[in-house]
Amino acid sequence: MAGPSSIRNFCIISHIDHGKSTLADRFLEITGTVEKTKMHEQYLDRMDLERERGITIKMAPVRMVYRPAEILNSKFEITNKLQIPNSKYQTNNLEFKDSKFSYVLNLIDTPGHSDFSYEVSRALACCEGAILVVDATQGIQAQTLTNMRLAQDHRLVIIPVVNKIDLPSAQPQKVAKEIERTFKIPSQEIIFISAKTGQNVPSVLEEIVKKIPAPSGNKEKPTRALIFDSYYDSYKGVIMFVRMFDGQIAQDDKVFLMASKRVTKVLEVGYFTPDLVSAPVLSAGEIGYIITGLKEVSECRVGDTITKIESIQKFKNLLKPKVKIQPLPGYQEPQPVVFASFFTTQDKDYNLLKSSLEKLKLNDYSLSFQPISLCGLGRGLQCGFLGLLHLEIIKERLMREFGLEIIISLPSVSYKVYKTNGETLTINQASNFPDVSEIESVEEPWARLEIVTPLRYLGKIMEFLSSKRSLYKETKYINENQIILIYEIPLSEIVCPALSSSPFYDQLKSISSGYASVDYKIIGFRKGHLLRLDILLAGERSEIFSRIVCRDEAYSIGRHLVKKLKEFIPRQMFPVKIQAALGKRIIAAETLSALRKDVTAKLYGGDYTRKLKLLEKQKKGKKKMLQIGSVSIPPETVFRLIKEI
Ligand code: GTP
Repeated sequence: MAGPSSIRNFCIISHIDHGKSTLADRFLEITGTVEKTKMHEQYLDRMDLERERGITIKMAPVRMVYRPAEILNSKFEITNKLQIPNSKYQTNNLEFKDSKFSYVLNLIDTPGHSDFSYEVSRALACCEGAILVVDATQGIQAQTLTNMRLAQDHRLVIIPVVNKIDLPSAQPQKVAKEIERTFKIPSQEIIFISAKTGQNVPSVLEEIVKKIPAPSGNKEKPTRALIFDSYYDSYKGVIMFVRMFDGQIAQDDKVFLMASKRVTKVLEVGYFTPDLVSAPVLSAGEIGYIITGLKEVSECRVGDTITKIESIQKFKNLLKPKVKIQPLPGYQEPQPVVFASFFTTQDKDYNLLKSSLEKLKLNDYSLSFQPISLCGLGRGLQCGFLGLLHLEIIKERLMREFGLEIIISLPSVSYKVYKTNGETLTINQASNFPDVSEIESVEEPWARLEIVTPLRYLGKIMEFLSSKRSLYKETKYINENQIILIYEIPLSEIVCPALSSSPFYDQLKSISSGYASVDYKIIGFRKGHLLRLDILLAGERSEIFSRIVCRDEAYSIGRHLVKKLKEFIPRQMFPVKIQAALGKRIIAAETLSALRKDVTAKLYGGDYTRKLKLLEKQKKGKKKMLQIGSVSIPPETVFRLIKEI
């Protein structure tokens, strides 16, 4: 157990790929938290998916013991080779030569992608400081701005770091000026490092203990701990990640979860190395985990405050009988921005899909879902996500971790529909969008878009955005060659790409040769001329292919869709009319000619039992088909169609 004065709680924030996890690796190495033989790159990215994609998805806490005097004598390079005018880091600056102190550093590594900024904000609420990492070859990017704003909102002490100075293309002085100009941080405060080689990384540790304040909690006060994350372990049950604000929690204590109103017994407490290591007690200021008897996923809520029954009684009896222990502020409910429905290819897997999503939700609080039923696909779950990458990751996790095969509907944003009968609906799924004849008006979500780009791509980016119903707002300069372009744009233009165009981010990356980075924030709802476009197959509405479109684009989208469907849908035993319709009005049509797929044709003469076996196999295959009226489509075609159209 560490006294609060020797504890420092901090996280690392940056744009994607600027080197957070690599810097965390060096910290783990320098402090000896992870044995050298066990060390590997991006150690805190523990999911296979994170390693394969090279991105952090989950925040990762780890406790390190930092002994400055030992590190001073270690082999790590601490002098700054760069000649930065006025930088206090030009020389070996460690002041702890005779220090007997050891510090407990609680680090939380965070994801960089904007879809996971809810992870970042939860981590920030547990910390007193943040290391802002900026890549010396890229400079400030869109998520640097967003994450820095989040850290400032939480009033954290910022330690600015310019990383990757080992690269030949690094421009640390230029990037330092960008940081100074954009965030009003004096460039002498900036530490120049290479997280890869370890150059100057000990200076960052030194700065952490000097600059970031110790946590202010009091272990004598009634216990209050914030649940900032959790996951489900099949042996241990629910594991809660907590930041202790006041008091203490130990094994066998009876605790009370203030929002979910559950009383439970503590089975184990401990901290992260990043593996779980049990400890006798968790005290004010510390970050650790608690295992209780809770087995139900829904009983543990991220953002809830844990207190002790003993604290409640003491507080009631001895202190202020009528005053209650105040819960910690917790977290704002994350607002999903993209919705899509998940269906299993086998109806019997529905319950597994539901329980799997419940387990994932414990570890990903921003995930939301509710039952839905679509004609042809049967029962499914409509899920809300924080963005398209979030959707993609959940789909992958369901497939890998739970062995599910799934079909996903077209993504949609949330619309407010005002009906002629006075009713107001919130619609997240095109199939539920009312008929055009019943609609008075529709509102759609708009976003403030922030694009950081080299000035030379300004023209191309503006041209691209002019085709996206967007409104230009402002241009800000990071330096003479790097700008921030600010636009307002309907969210659907970002997250629901029209027709077969590639995702918004990919298009932007391609026109800026990979240099532009982008982030957005929802700013509210605005009126739009939006309609539901239906696809009819042999006269039957196919709900899975319905989509919400802008009136001006309805005809061209309708024509495109029927052509694509004709190309993809396998021929049936009869001719199939494929039509696009706005309400009762058909706006485009194609006909798929008939074909009898005679799989036995090639087996002329020969063995009759082989024919029977093949017919049997064909029948089995049909069980999994998506059935729209009389038309059957194999699930893999539905999957491809949804992706392609
Ligand atoms: P996300 O979690 O996905 O946002 O990425 P991150 O910010 O954690 O970046 P990560 O540490 O995964 O590093 C991204 C890439 O940059 C990896 O290939 C690292 O090896 C590389 N990298 C990180 N720091 C340095 C550095 O100081 N020098 C060089 N040359 N490469 C670095």
